[in-house]
Amino acid sequence: MNKKLSLVLLTGIVVLFSLNSFSEEGVSEGEVMFEALGCWGCHGQAGYSTDERYPVLAGRNADWIVQQLEYFQSGERVSPMMNAMAPMAEGFERVIAEYLASKESP
Ligand code: HEC
Repeated sequence: MNKKLSLVLLTGIVVLFSLNSFSEEGVSEGEVMFEALGCWGCHGQAGYSTDERYPVLAGRNADWIVQQLEYFQSGERVSPMMNAMAPMAEGFERVIAEYLASKESP
């Protein structure tokens, strides 16, 4: 077999395999980003904050979450912590919001 073709096929198989293991474990892109960006460090695992200084995000409306992140990014809403954090979620506002909204509100 042609070397280039086998490389393309191999890449395809690896991508399919990783997509598959993603969906099998039910891990969404939003969940991955919420964890990777460290949002959970303040807002709690899956947004279930138990510290009153940090708002609970689990079960909140997705559109509202996206809107708040945009307000923090533009500075329209002021919070030193969130004005620093929100820009990191750029491009992932919607998937993170959908992930949190999919949780049962506490
Ligand atoms: C260092 C702690 C910290 C981290 C990390 C953090 N937040 Fe926040 N977040 C806060 C605080 C504090 C508030 C409340 C701000 C205020 O109202 O003054 C807040 C508020 C919010 C709100 C609005 C909630 C409400 O009830 O008004 C959203 C949405 C939010 N954060 C999303 C996120 C996302 C998404 C991430 C990850 C990219 C994140 N936060 C990371 C501390 C944090």
